[in-house]
Amino acid sequence: MRSAARLLTAAAMALLPVAASAQEAAAPAADPAAGLSEWAKVYEVFSHPRCANCHVEDNRPRWSGAHYGVTRVHAFNVQGGNDGSGFGNPGLHCTTCHFDRNSSVLHGPPGVAGWHLAPPEMVWFGKSSAEICAQIKDPERNGNRSLEEVAIHVRDDALVGWGWNPGPGREPAPGSAQATYEALVRWAAAGAPCP
Ligand code: HEC
Ligand code: HEC
Repeated sequence: MRSAARLLTAAAMALLPVAASAQEAAAPAADPAAGLSEWAKVYEVFSHPRCANCHVEDNRPRWSGAHYGVTRVHAFNVQGGNDGSGFGNPGLHCTTCHFDRNSSVLHGPPGVAGWHLAPPEMVWFGKSSAEICAQIKDPERNGNRSLEEVAIHVRDDALVGWGWNPGPGREPAPGSAQATYEALVRWAAAGAPCP
């Protein structure tokens, strides 16, 4: 019995280094080049007007794209709101004009339920790829999310989803919510490198 136990211990010890190296191989290796090419896809989406026009630092959404002519501050003196909610000032809430679906006419207000402006610390409009990358990794500025939670937000959130279904005349964001989710997951697995 005793010798059998000794034999087993010896066998277990012989296996140990194997197990350790198998674990190392399974851990995601930081691969900056692969990560940066995934980030480039994410940046193309985040910086697109369908996303960035709601992610501004001055509390004023933007209008931009082919049917607007030049990029401009949202008309009607629309602002995120003095209460910091992003839903607009009393008497001029976003949902006064933006309903739970897109207007079917060109220049009509687009919409999904819960339309409101992103908080100013989540700013992308006019920011570089490096700046957006740093913001998205910073829990102080990304709503205290892990990178996995950021990816899930992109895959599942209704306001994000609108970016690929923006209504007449507006160019959708590139790719899809699912493809952007997958790029974020691969970027995180590669060590989440920033340019
Ligand atoms: C008085 C009505 C009104 C209010 C209030 C309003 N909007 Fe709009 N919004 C519009 C209209 C109309 C359009 C479409 C304009 C066009 O297509 O020419 C629009 C378009 C937009 C767009 C689309 C820009 C793009 O990328 O194509 C965004 C984003 C937006 N509004 C955000 C907001 C937010 C956020 C609020 C609240 C803080 C808000 N709006 C409040 C009328 C309003
Ligand atoms: C109508 C306005 C609006 C549009 C359009 C919009 N967002 Fe947002 N976004 C918000 C708001 C509001 C929040 C804050 C929600 C929260 O923290 O729960 C937010 C938060 C986020 C976050 C959370 C983390 C962070 O640091 O920003 C991500 C990621 C995000 N949006 C991605 C996108 C993408 C990608 C698009 C375009 C495909 C997009 N959003 C379009 C309003 C918008």
